[in-house]
Amino acid sequence: MSSDIYRDLRAKAEGQAALQWLLPLIEQSQHELDASRHGDMPRWRAALDRLPPAEPLLDGSAKAPVLGRPVADQGRLKASLMDLHPWRKGPLDVGGQFIDTEWRSDWKWSRLAPHLDLSDRLVLDVGCGNGYYGWRMLGAGADCVVGLDPTLVFVMQWLAARHYSGAVNNFVLPLGIEALPEARRCFDTVFSMGVLYHRKDACGHLRHLFGQVKPGGQLVLETLVLEGNEERELRPQGRYARMRNVWSVPSVPRLQRWLRQAGLPAGRVLDVTPTSETEQRSTEWMTFESLRECLDPEDPCKTVEGHPAPLRACLLVDVPA
Ligand SMILES: C[S@@+](CC[C@H](N)C(=O)[O-])C[C@H]1O[C@@H](n2cnc3c(N)ncnc32)[C@H](O)[C@@H]1O
Repeated sequence: MSSDIYRDLRAKAEGQAALQWLLPLIEQSQHELDASRHGDMPRWRAALDRLPPAEPLLDGSAKAPVLGRPVADQGRLKASLMDLHPWRKGPLDVGGQFIDTEWRSDWKWSRLAPHLDLSDRLVLDVGCGNGYYGWRMLGAGADCVVGLDPTLVFVMQWLAARHYSGAVNNFVLPLGIEALPEARRCFDTVFSMGVLYHRKDACGHLRHLFGQVKPGGQLVLETLVLEGNEERELRPQGRYARMRNVWSVPSVPRLQRWLRQAGLPAGRVLDVTPTSETEQRSTEWMTFESLRECLDPEDPCKTVEGHPAPLRACLLVDVPA
């Protein structure tokens, strides 16, 4: 594992006065990866150390971003990548190995991408997972993507992909959104996808996101919603689709009220789509239970707890200049 993973991001932050606040977070991230006592860290580090070398390459425009030219020893590559199980966001083509992840994240991206112009943009992706969307954002012309995700195995997956992409501007910091200062307002586009329902204080999360967007920039918000045009909200007691930490699922009108309460415009609804068992499923690369086991086998319109089955909305919010 490289000892200076964030060198290029550090150089960028040092070169722009408006980004200098990032420097301590970069140091914190490097320290977290160097000194983490997570029990799986030795295995993950060994997996990264065993990755065969390859000629660097990035094609982020492909549904399965291409990271690196194919390596000769596919067996060794696959075994190393498998040690970073579970692969949730993708698909990815890493060193010639096709990683068929739990999610068809390319489907979500194809619903969003036609509405976005990321050319030369500085992007923040909160809850970025293994950085899948960051590769796609670079493919769509973004200048630099700063992703945040506190789940270390996803950061290790990003490092494996980065081993093959070479030094390009898609970074994943092992941090949660709470590590960000309140209101620096320096990113052109801020993404929060699949995170809002995990936050106890949804309006606080939206205010925090607002504080990261440059005046005149954009917020892309994707979250679970309830069907319908009336204002309502589900606050699951216990689990939702077997997830422990789902605090609230609003209807779109309620979500738009929260945006206004956070000081933002209500935004445009780009898409509302039910999650299907072909979009989220167990695969060779994610062998745990997936959506199928979370739905009522008698009535797949309901979760096993009896709540409405997952429906997701994408909103685009133009932040006034
Ligand atoms: C449902 S996944 C969504 C991943 C990706 N954004 C997507 O839309 O496919 C939620 C992600 O948020 C991350 N997460 C959890 N707590 C977080 C926090 N406090 N700040 C930022 N990300 C967080 C999780 O590790 C996980 O990768």
